[in-house]
Amino acid sequence: MSINRLKEDLIELGRLGRKNQVETRNYEDLDMDKGLWRLEGNEQSKVSKDFIISKMKEAGLEVRFDRVGNIFGRKVGTDPNKRAVMSGSHLDSVKNGGQFDGPLGVISVLEAIRIMNEEGFQNERPIELSIFVGEEGSAFYQGLIGSEVLVGDKTYDEVEKIKNDEGKPLKEVLKDYRSDYEFDINSVEYFIELHPEQGPVLYNENTPIGIVEEITGITWVKAVIYGQENHSGTTPMNSRKDPLVAASDVVSFTDERVKELLSKKGGQTVATVGKFEVYPSATNIIPGEVELGIDIRDKVDENIKLIRNDIIKTIDGLESKYQVKTQVETLFHKPPSPCSKEVVEAIYKASETLNIQTRRMSSGAAHDAQNIAKKVKTAMIFVPSVDGISHSPFEWSRWEDLEKGVNVLTQTLKNLSQY
Ligand code: GLV
Ligand code: MN
Ligand code: MN
Ligand code: MN
Repeated sequence: MSINRLKEDLIELGRLGRKNQVETRNYEDLDMDKGLWRLEGNEQSKVSKDFIISKMKEAGLEVRFDRVGNIFGRKVGTDPNKRAVMSGSHLDSVKNGGQFDGPLGVISVLEAIRIMNEEGFQNERPIELSIFVGEEGSAFYQGLIGSEVLVGDKTYDEVEKIKNDEGKPLKEVLKDYRSDYEFDINSVEYFIELHPEQGPVLYNENTPIGIVEEITGITWVKAVIYGQENHSGTTPMNSRKDPLVAASDVVSFTDERVKELLSKKGGQTVATVGKFEVYPSATNIIPGEVELGIDIRDKVDENIKLIRNDIIKTIDGLESKYQVKTQVETLFHKPPSPCSKEVVEAIYKASETLNIQTRRMSSGAAHDAQNIAKKVKTAMIFVPSVDGISHSPFEWSRWEDLEKGVNVLTQTLKNLSQY
């Protein structure tokens, strides 16, 4: 494979995804730059899509957009009646994100296809590169929407109407990157997503490849607490309706409740208040409103529900404790999702052939693969994340690990496309 070609494409895609462009740079210093802001519909997203689409066409792929802006690129097979092998990931980033989360799983499929083209490899099954729209939930406030529509969890009509932070519907935001086409997921036999681990396991163990057997479940809860906006200097302490004081109870409760559960039962439950917006946010004003976004994840679905219900009870209790009004909504819930043993074994076999060390593991992060797994035999390939950091501008993966990841992916795609 060409590690230089992969590196150049990833670096360029990273450059296009940043707001602050730097003209010259040293590859290895890139993690010191400010993060990516490639949110669906923004300028960074458009130029990145244009770049990747031209690369897909250069590699001979048939490129199509579907109704909600998923992008597909097909390498036709020698047997057009066979169901496809699909592989891909997403291009959108979180706010101030890293350059590997998502793009790695897109560029590596492109590189795999370029290698096959150069070798004159003939795939029987079609190989389909997929770029799922809106994975991160950073523009539309709910994640994994592109893959949800493909497996029928949401309808195209519903997803076209989802609004971004500016209140614009997806259909309008993505007008240049959508069409009337609807992809048929039943035409796919296997799905593989290559992704950085986004946690510390592989890096700490110095194992280059993780094979994902299960993807953890996830719930997002949105809470809004309404108080009385008022003057900070004149309002006595005993007559305030301060939603920020109330909201801080939710933050500490979330952390303490999960730690209590872990100390009793062990396991890997995590919960985070990652969104905390204070309105109007001024030093001399008692806030009028606070919005919280809460993320709860576990491999055990009952634990997610338990923590969510306890958090909701705590929020309800704030009304009488602080004389505020509250509004709570579960934005989405995805149960843990097992991967296909057949695809796990195929990845293992490919790694063995290449003499690359692997370990089996579960994914703590959410991925489109967990939706696709409902309809298609699916597994994931992980590569190490330096220091386990992700969803941060400091996200980094070593080029030598990426090379192994792409080699394993290429070998697996070749094998599965010949079945
Ligand atoms: C998406 O990247 C998630 O795991 O939140
Ligand atoms: Mn992510
Ligand atoms: Mn991702
Ligand atoms: Mn993700």
